[in-house]
Amino acid sequence: MDAGLTPVRLEKAQFERISQLVHRLTGINLHPGKQELVNARLTKRLRALGLKSLDAYMEYLKRDDPEGELVAMIEAMTTNKTSFFREPQHFDYMGRQIVPGLRNRKIRIWSAGCSSGEEPYSIAILLDETIQDFALWDISLLATDLSSRMIAYARKGIYDKNCLRDVPPLLISKYFTCIERSPVCRYQVIEPLRRHVHFARLNLMEEWPMGGSFDVIFCRNVMIYFDKPTQEQLVNRFWKLLKPGGHLFVGHSESLAGSQHKLRYVQPAIYMKPGIK
Ligand SMILES: C[S@@+](CC[C@H](N)C(=O)[O-])C[C@H]1O[C@@H](n2cnc3c(N)ncnc32)[C@H](O)[C@@H]1O
Repeated sequence: MDAGLTPVRLEKAQFERISQLVHRLTGINLHPGKQELVNARLTKRLRALGLKSLDAYMEYLKRDDPEGELVAMIEAMTTNKTSFFREPQHFDYMGRQIVPGLRNRKIRIWSAGCSSGEEPYSIAILLDETIQDFALWDISLLATDLSSRMIAYARKGIYDKNCLRDVPPLLISKYFTCIERSPVCRYQVIEPLRRHVHFARLNLMEEWPMGGSFDVIFCRNVMIYFDKPTQEQLVNRFWKLLKPGGHLFVGHSESLAGSQHKLRYVQPAIYMKPGIK
């Protein structure tokens, strides 16, 4: 900890103000159990800005460059944990059940809440491995996240060796190039694969600019941070954007039980919009 900056301790009213702001802007539910985490993360923001107290920070949020700091504050509150081929059942299901049933060599996928890119690149690898005439397909793979920092990172597609621990060596040699050996081994996703993923910043709580509909939407380990009404609204917005017969994948620790929606449960963490493709 920097000398001269004691860690922030939010009072109840201050915590409520911050959590209401975060909820309004991002849907993220900072319940009282998260107070310690919020204290720690705000302390980092104060340190980055050279501010000495929470009151000064609240004033700063109100007056100076609020847009820039709001984004930084929200980014500090989110968790970006992810990995390649996380929750592999989804990739198995996609390769076995979804891709073989597609017509017209066309697939449209959205990774909503893609963090640093491991999820959409895993999807791209799965497609390339499953589709024999991949080059002839019209593949659209959209990957969005609230965090511009994560999107910039994801676009580069550069990962330390330990991030590739769940990628089989054969796939590493096929889809990654070693770009640095020391001090740590770093790999970059090969350009022909990166080209297939279109990254953009998008807050799921705001308007969605994309038209058309998707065969598969991945929104995994994102809704876990939202309260039930926000989750329900989001799932119903996803429903509108899915093709009939399209699938929604959620994280395995997330459940749509208790939410009002028109999706059909397929198996844990997999839902389908009823209808014929
Ligand atoms: C834990 S990561 C999950 C990454 C990936 N989907 C996975 O399952 O490995 C959650 C991501 O959701 C993003 N997120 C949180 N709230 C969001 C919002 N309102 N709109 C868009 N993305 C959001 C965070 O920035 C973070 O990168």
